[in-house]
Amino acid sequence: MRTASLGLVTLILAVNVLSVRAWIHPGILHKLSDISRMSSYITAGLAGTNSPQYQDYLLFAADKFSSDAYQMSTPVATLTSRASFEADATAAYQNALMWKLTGIQLHAAKSISIMNAWSGTLKSVDPNYLDMQLASSLGPFMMTNAAEIIRYTSAGWTASGISSFSSMLNNVFYPRLNNHTGVQYQANVGTGNTKALMAFGVFTENTTMYNEAISLYSNEKCSGLALDISATGQSSESGRDQGHVQLGLGNLAESCQIAWLQGTNDLFSLLSNRLLTGYEYTAKYNLGNTVAYDATFQRCDANLLGGPFNVISTTGRGTFRPIYELAYAHYVSLGGLSMPFSLQIINKVGTEEGNTSPADGSGWGTLKYRL
Ligand SMILES: *[C@@H]1O[C@H](CO)[C@@H](O)[C@H](O)[C@H]1NC(C)=O
Ligand SMILES: *[C@@H]1O[C@H](CO)[C@@H](O)[C@H](O)[C@H]1NC(C)=O
Repeated sequence: MRTASLGLVTLILAVNVLSVRAWIHPGILHKLSDISRMSSYITAGLAGTNSPQYQDYLLFAADKFSSDAYQMSTPVATLTSRASFEADATAAYQNALMWKLTGIQLHAAKSISIMNAWSGTLKSVDPNYLDMQLASSLGPFMMTNAAEIIRYTSAGWTASGISSFSSMLNNVFYPRLNNHTGVQYQANVGTGNTKALMAFGVFTENTTMYNEAISLYSNEKCSGLALDISATGQSSESGRDQGHVQLGLGNLAESCQIAWLQGTNDLFSLLSNRLLTGYEYTAKYNLGNTVAYDATFQRCDANLLGGPFNVISTTGRGTFRPIYELAYAHYVSLGGLSMPFSLQIINKVGTEEGNTSPADGSGWGTLKYRL
């Protein structure tokens, strides 16, 4: 009896220990082995073996946001616009990667100084600012990628800098992302919020926040996966314009990548690889082909922004956003599936660069994601 109950206690303890999951760091969009893969293409390139990855690195290294001489904006206490923070966040992230890829300390110092300056000053995102959720998601997501790389690569970021950055995520941005009323969390705004929360959860090792984001990916009432992408691959914003459609697809792919890297959830495969179907529908249409359009599939509050839309939009058609390499690497190179239309775009583009609005997504996928 006694032995049996001790055995049971031991079993329960063992199960509890197993359920405490180890976080992977750095572990938002890139783990160390991913950065080593990028480095190996660079080393080979410098030694004379060219590759698309190396060509993309040369463009990345020459980009203004990768420069250790990047001039940051003057941080403010209350965000009432997005552009300055988003540019600075992009520079922090690209300098963080440059630091790890080149070992040049000036890049780490630039990234750290941007993060410290903002987290030491910013107190709030104006709740009356129309884009308060985009301001709390897109730029902060990029800056959290910087923070994650810098923190776990012996770059010299102080404990107080890290703690101040964590406070900014929890006290400035999280409250804005924790609002699901009215027009919040719709379409691309919702998918951006979800990827940001997932990144914040990894950086702060907050399992509650991370799991909340995983659940929102499928179940958010206006941006859960099945509401963003129909079974045919149509986006809830296909009638609006092709830029916002691609922004949303990229957001979803980045969330999938985080959960895949952390090894917690295979979001890529949900609903029979619904995200792949979404990419292919949008790639096919943007390459000039005809696709079926279902006017009953619209975003929540379909009357916003000139909707509901009775036909698919030609606005932005053929302007390819830098989102295709990430999904292709996962589904095709790793998973053996087929994405013929996305591949056509990848081949046309050659070397994927950054976004015109720099914090719209990680970009530079030929360097970052191509295997
Ligand atoms: C949530 O968003 C709505 C607008 O959709 C706004 O009226 C409300 O003040 C916000 N609530 C909080 C707590 O920020
Ligand atoms: C973790 O995240 C939740 C929101 O998901 C928040 O309420 C909580 O305060 C966070 N915990 C810590 C220790 O920051």
